[in-house]
This record gives sequence, C-alpha cells and structure tokens, in this order.
Amino acid sequence: GGETPAKPVELNFKAVPISTADTVVVPEGYQFAVISRWGDPLFAGAPAFKADASNGGDDQARQLGYNHDGLHFFPIDGTDSVNGSSVEGLMVTNHEYTTPEYFYPVGVQPGNAQWNLDWVRKSQHAHGVSVRHLRLANGKWEAVLDSPFNRSVNANVAMQLVGPAAGNRLVRTNADPSGTRCFGTFGNCGNGYTLWNTYLTCEENFTDYFGVGTADPATVNYPDAEYQAHMERYKGSGKTSSSSYRWDHYDNRFNWAMEPNEYNRCGWVVEIDPFDPNSTPKKLTALGRFKHENAAMTLADDKRVVVYMGDDQVSEYIYKFVSDGKYDPARPALNRLLLDKGTLYVARFLDGAAQGDAMGVGEWIPLKLDTPALAGGTLGALFNQDMGELLVKTRQAADAVGATPMDRPEWITTHPTTREAYVTLTNNSSRGSSSARYPGGPQHPGANDANPRTGNQYGQIVRWREKNGDPASLTFEWDIFVLAGNPTLYPRTDLRSGSANVTADNTFNSPDGLAFDKRGLLWIETDGNYSNTGAYAGQGNNQMLVANPATKEIRRFMTGPIGCEVTGLTWTPDQKYLFINIQHPGEGPSVTDAQNNPLMASKWPDDATATRPRPATVVIWKQDGSAVGT
Ligand code: FEO
Ligand code: CA
Ligand code: CA
Ligand code: CA
Repeated sequence: GGETPAKPVELNFKAVPISTADTVVVPEGYQFAVISRWGDPLFAGAPAFKADASNGGDDQARQLGYNHDGLHFFPIDGTDSVNGSSVEGLMVTNHEYTTPEYFYPVGVQPGNAQWNLDWVRKSQHAHGVSVRHLRLANGKWEAVLDSPFNRSVNANVAMQLVGPAAGNRLVRTNADPSGTRCFGTFGNCGNGYTLWNTYLTCEENFTDYFGVGTADPATVNYPDAEYQAHMERYKGSGKTSSSSYRWDHYDNRFNWAMEPNEYNRCGWVVEIDPFDPNSTPKKLTALGRFKHENAAMTLADDKRVVVYMGDDQVSEYIYKFVSDGKYDPARPALNRLLLDKGTLYVARFLDGAAQGDAMGVGEWIPLKLDTPALAGGTLGALFNQDMGELLVKTRQAADAVGATPMDRPEWITTHPTTREAYVTLTNNSSRGSSSARYPGGPQHPGANDANPRTGNQYGQIVRWREKNGDPASLTFEWDIFVLAGNPTLYPRTDLRSGSANVTADNTFNSPDGLAFDKRGLLWIETDGNYSNTGAYAGQGNNQMLVANPATKEIRRFMTGPIGCEVTGLTWTPDQKYLFINIQHPGEGPSVTDAQNNPLMASKWPDDATATRPRPATVVIWKQDGSAVGT
C-alpha cells in the first residue's frame, strides 16, 4: 500500500496500418533512426564490417553482435532509469543467436567443408551481451567508441556461478572442478535490470548449442539414464545435433559426451554491472534454471526483491523469486547479494469460481526441499536432498508440485505504480495435442481459462494482481487482458477471433516483448507469423502496439521490415527517445542464387547498399520533442 494511484493515461498517436514493406513505419509526427547494427564497431579502431560477411572471430569480438533482443538504457550518471541523464548512457543489448545464411560468407555454413574454429569463434563472439556508450549529439544518437565502458560480454567471457547451485556436483566439469568458474553466455533473449543499476540477461535456448561433434548422435550413448531424463526434459526432444551452430565440432565444451555438465552451467539469469568493465558477470542460480525469457524486478511491501520470470517453451511455467534479504538504498553492497538467496516459486493458474470467463485465481508453490511434494521418496533422491541440485532441475521440481503449463511464457512486466504483472503467452501449437511434452513425459494439456485455445496460433496476454497488491503474496487473481486473434476471419463466438479489444484495425499474433513505460502505457511487441495469409491474413509484418491498461484499448504504433521480430524496449528517463530492436530481418527463406549468394528476403537497414540484412537497434522520437506515446 501507500503508492499513488496511476494517473489516467491515453493513447494520443494515430495508429499505423499493417505493413508488408521492407522498412520501419512509425506514426505521423514521429521519426526513427537506425543505430548499432550487427558488425558496427564496438571500440575505437575496431575493424569495419565487411560486406561479404568475411570478418572472422577476432573482428567479431570487437564489433556489435547479432540478433539483438532485450536492451536497457543506463543513464551515464549512474543514478537510475527514472531520474538520470536522457542524453548520454550505456546501452546494454542482448545478442541472442545467429542466422547462418546471412552471418557467414558465401560457401561457409555450420558443419560444412569450409567450417573451422574461426567461424565457431565468430559465432560465439556474436552471441551474448554488448555494452555500448551512446550520446545524443546534434539531434543524433552516436556511439562513444573510445569509452572505457564498451564491452563484449560474449559466449567466451569468464563468469562466476553464485547461489545455491554454485559448486554443485552437477556443475563441475573437467575444465572447472570447482563448479564456480564458467565461460560465456548465449541464447540471450529478454532482459531485466535491478534497483542497484545492473543488467540481467536471460539464457533461453541453450539446449540448441550442445551436440556430439562430428559423430552421428544416434551412435553416442548418454552418460546414464539420469542424465538422459534430465537432458531430454530440458531439450524437449531426444538426441539431436547442434545443427544451426556446430560449435561442438571445434569446442569440446559444447560436446555433451565429453563435458556432460557444461549443459547445467547454462539456462540461468546472468547479472552484469555495465559501469564496471572489469567485473565478472554472475550466473544467479537462485533464480532457477530453465529457458529464461526475461526478468522483471519489483519490490514487495516489506522491501524484499521480487523477480518474475517465464520459461519459454510450449507448455512450460511461470516463476517468481523472492529474496530473503530486503532492499535498502543506503546499503548498495548488500543489495548486490539479494539475488543470491531467496525462495523460487512456480505458478498454478486455476479456473476459479466459473469456467470459460477468462479469469480465475492462482497460487505460488515454493520449490524447496521441504515442500511436501518434493520432500523424501523418489523426488528426494532426484534432488539428492540438495537445493543446488533442485535448482539445476528446476523444471522437474515444478512438474512435481503441479505447476500449470502455459502457452509459452515470454516477457513479464509490472505496472509502475500498481505492480500488477502482465505476461505475454506467445502461442502454443501443441496445446491439446496428444504428443508428449518431452520424451517420457505427459502429453500437452488441454485448454483452461488462462490458456483457452487448443492449437493456440495467436497468443494472449494474461495479468495478475497479487493478494493485497503485494508481490510477495502467495495467492493472486488473474484475467486475460487480450486474447490475440483474427476477427476478420472468425465470428466473435469463435475464440480465434480474439477478445473484444482486438479489431480489424489492430489485429496481430504472437505477443512477445512487453514493457510498461513510466506513465503506465503497455508496449507490446510481436514475434509471430508474418505471412499475411491464411490464419494470419491482415496482420502483416511483426509490429509494436500500445495498450491502455485501464480501457484495454490497443493501437498499432510501428511495423518492422520483412521477416523480422520486433523486440527489446527501453526509454531515456525523459521518455523522449524509445529504443527497440529489429531481430532477424529477412529470416525465413534460405535460398541462394546461381552464384550461391544468399538471396536476401530483406535488405533492411542498408537498403540499396545492402549485402546482408542486419539486425539493429532503432531509436524512435517525436518531432515536436515531447515524450513518445503522448
Ligand atoms: Fe527468445 Fe522466447 O524468445
Ligand atoms: Ca474462470
Ligand atoms: Ca522473445
Ligand atoms: Ca518469441
């Protein structure tokens, strides 16, 4: 209690129509500029981007990484994201993965005859997180290349495991018998930031990077049955190769037959201090191990820190971490230990008093050794009576307590004053299917009130209010804020039409990125089907929309180029500049011309001079100088 009620907010821009064009479109009265493309220099003297993508591993370590995802603007004065500088700051950006048909020179592809260690290094150095000092000069955002803060926190940078799983037998490797010193981060999807001005990067699809070198996976045995069950629970499928990456051909760290526990050192939230370029990033094991989407921090009434997180795979769960200690602005060094110790909970979403009404109740189940469903018996053995081991196997613990499988939980954000939480459930083609969620596992569940459609093509946004408005509460009420759908194809009686706030003018699919601005408008980004045909007719390219949480009105704010996802969002403290990322422009058709050059499905952003589409950050502002969205 005690917070001031949210001021009424309105959507004051003219909606943009859908687009299938290879460009970014913003509303009338707005402008945008492309900054921070893949391959742009990260340091003074860094090599220039080579148009034929022939920069090797050393060059890539000094250039911006690929497939930008979550990002956050830290004002340079190091104060906070509300009151700090709006003209200079450190932009910290996730680089999630690489799109092989554009990332390498013609003829080079993962695992083919041209494949070598340097191409592996190039890929590893394009993954992870970049810290890039930016400033506004003469109306343009530019990089400060000689800044001491610029940094590539890529897939080979030294990191530290902290929290209950640090040192556990399951995270010890031949290279690191201590189980505390690991290397690199990759699959960095969504993000978060802390009250003490550090960055949180979230490791998502780490399972795709592990293989068995050049061997045929079918011929390689798992170390044992326990390992098999654990690995397949996380992968969701049986043995496969690392076909999109093939790091395991030259780097034994990614060969699970040689270093089986390296796998367990991935799938965490990682904390990076952008203001200390010599700091060692920390993998926060207390926050659980799964395919992390983002990390949304808020404060409980008693000042414990609460972090909401989604596990983005079909029919996976929503979690929250509550710290043991309390946040105290006067004790900055102690605040930095808050994410080392606490309780991880997983959510159960129940239909409530009535079914079919798009609302219900829920509860948070602690994942602790003495939680009744987890104590003793077979499960006690599964976790070896060890909290670190339970956290390495977070998904198995959540299974055991009866968590609710959701439609691919992506980003979570909390309202700046009410602390109400919103989550994007992007889609779930498997809901209601009779296939197993993972080898040996149960089948995908059917529809329920929070996930009301089988074969969910469009996704939904669910929001919840914790009991008494306190994020540390153990029960909540929830409702569906928007059920995305296509009302031009289906009658209102068909759930595929979406909820009443979806119209022919704002129809979209697969909400993913999500954040409140500080006035309480909800910004929604999509990563969905951009075919603009069939079930997706009239939805166009991926896009960003803005919603009014009070009225539920939703309006399209921008559209992205061909084949992209729109993701990541952060503002300058004065809200005059909004930064978003365009990820994987041109993704989709992997086709080549007669000379074996990639046929670019998109030439964004370099257009006439393009030789490759390039993921990049876009800054958007209002021509009259007022805050975006107002
Ligand atoms: Fe990397 Fe769940 O999106
Ligand atoms: Ca209900
Ligand atoms: Ca995402
Ligand atoms: Ca997505």
